[in-house]
Amino acid sequence: MKILGISGGMKDGSNDSMCKEALMAAKEMGADVEFVRLLDLDLKYCTGCVTCSISLVTGKGNRCVLKDDFEWLLDKMLDADGIIISSPIFVKGAPGIFQTLRDRFGPRMDRGMNIIATKIAENGGGKMPDPRILKDKVISYIGIGGSDWATRIACDHTMHALSPMWKIIDNEVFKWSKTIVLDEEKVSRVNQIGKNLFEAAKDIESAQYKGNKGICPHCHNQNFYLEEGSTDAICCTCGIEGKLEIVDGKVAFVFPEVQLQLAHDTLSGKFKHVDDIKENEGKNMQLKKSDEYKTMIEKYKSFISPSKPN
Ligand SMILES: Cc1cc2nc3c(=O)[nH]c(=O)nc-3n(C[C@H](O)[C@H](O)[C@H](O)COP(=O)(O)O)c2cc1C
Repeated sequence: MKILGISGGMKDGSNDSMCKEALMAAKEMGADVEFVRLLDLDLKYCTGCVTCSISLVTGKGNRCVLKDDFEWLLDKMLDADGIIISSPIFVKGAPGIFQTLRDRFGPRMDRGMNIIATKIAENGGGKMPDPRILKDKVISYIGIGGSDWATRIACDHTMHALSPMWKIIDNEVFKWSKTIVLDEEKVSRVNQIGKNLFEAAKDIESAQYKGNKGICPHCHNQNFYLEEGSTDAICCTCGIEGKLEIVDGKVAFVFPEVQLQLAHDTLSGKFKHVDDIKENEGKNMQLKKSDEYKTMIEKYKSFISPSKPN
């Protein structure tokens, strides 16, 4: 069994160390482990060209135009049974390099899109995407911060697993932890996270989330988008729409059962999203051909050009 550790921190810093602590635990239990540091890699940010989406739905496989170390990393991630990612907390959330990794997963690693592309290929309509993308996988996240500014990190981490629908086992946040290596309790918790991931990777189908309960009963998220003037709330991670209520003196997120089918981390929710996008993209493509659209674009294009360094 292969467990891959990915650190988003500086060389030999807290994240490298804690990622390795989790790997040590997994290795002791019998896993083959490998460690990667994101800052060692050349990872370009996603430009939004949507070549990946178009190539998937037109039977051209799963392509990205960017040439960097992402393919190398993706190959390792797809080969692993379990992945542990440790990120330093930057401005309450995940650092830019993690967000780049998440964006590069975006539509390209979306399970719904890859199922559609696989069906197209099976029906003789094109290139088969890498079958490893549709393989179940377990993943755990660790966020390490130097203060108590840490309200977005768990949510940011979760968004990464959303596209491929990888099962999250732990999603832990360590506040005030710049010297975490000296904190026995926290190091022991990280060790447990490594063990939990190993156990989960042994039987991915029945693996269960082991982290904090959180507020959203579906995805355990604690970040919500609140609608002004009401108690309406949308779970920032799984997109379930419901209400925040006080039940037995505690905040509870309640929603109609039907919302579960629309959750963004379910296949039914993903297919609904693909259908919605398809409908809107059709309209957009027509509008973009119109003279009115071209005139408006020309107006902004000719107004000013971007300044660039020499
Ligand atoms: C740009 C930047 C923003 C940061 N923002 C936060 C923050 O919002 N909350 C926090 O707890 N720590 C913050 N920190 C501290 C880092 O989380 C801390 O230095 C990091 O965990 C060190 O990880 P490393 O040793 O693995 O590189 C920030 C650090 C930097 C450089």
